[in-house]
Amino acid sequence: MSTQNKPFKKLTTHRLLEMKQRGEKISMLTAYDYSMAQIIDAAGIDVILVGDSASNVMAGNETTLPITLDHMIYHATSVVRAVERSLVVVDIPFGYYQGNSSEALRSAIRIMKESGAHAVKMEGGSEIKESVSRILSAGVPIMGHLGLTPQSIYKFGTYTVRAKEEQEAQKLIEDAQLLEDCGCFAVVLEKIPAKLAGQVSQAIKIPSIGIGAGPNTDGQVLVVHDMLGITKEFNPRFLRRYADLNQVIDGAVKNYIQDIKNGSFPNMDESY
Ligand code: KIV
Repeated sequence: MSTQNKPFKKLTTHRLLEMKQRGEKISMLTAYDYSMAQIIDAAGIDVILVGDSASNVMAGNETTLPITLDHMIYHATSVVRAVERSLVVVDIPFGYYQGNSSEALRSAIRIMKESGAHAVKMEGGSEIKESVSRILSAGVPIMGHLGLTPQSIYKFGTYTVRAKEEQEAQKLIEDAQLLEDCGCFAVVLEKIPAKLAGQVSQAIKIPSIGIGAGPNTDGQVLVVHDMLGITKEFNPRFLRRYADLNQVIDGAVKNYIQDIKNGSFPNMDESY
């Protein structure tokens, strides 16, 4: 459907850059399916990330590693169908870009062609420079991802805060500048000290989107199931819950079961 006559302007990578320039914060949330994407797009979110966190919250895996490119394209296609205004960014999953730049390009093109998404996200800095450059040369916008990069969890061994030491902090600043120089349009900074996130955000012209990176980034992202209180066990310090949907759903399902058991559902008004 054309958005030409709609009372809003579609989000673009260029508009995100303008938002940073005028100091307007960028809002981003994950979504993996049509119904959720429709709600958060209509609510006015700037960017929807079809994150590989789908591996955790949709599929129940412990890490993001098992999710496949086909799974990501399935989720992304459902999200794109729902979205009218937000910019849709899709994670290239683990194992589909680390091998070589031809494979990386093929993965990015499959996501863009098959899902209709607007950009891809990739984890890493200098290690993936060649793939980043090749994908950008093909005209596919890239959001970088530095700091805690969950696809490397078995290398880190833990989900604790990254870049607390000078050497790692310095590499992170250099990687952010490299991603900007390559032509990435934004970079996610995950679970790093707030002071460092502020330094990185000042050092680059492209927007930084923080998660567990304090208030000095150009935008914020959370996993939608976490901020809505659907997930219960995940309680990091950075997570603010805006609802307790777990409790709401639990109550509704219990009432439904009770109404079936006692014969009050359906009544005659709910029958034909
Ligand atoms: O997959 C994801 O949800 C992410 C965000 C946490 C940034 O990468």
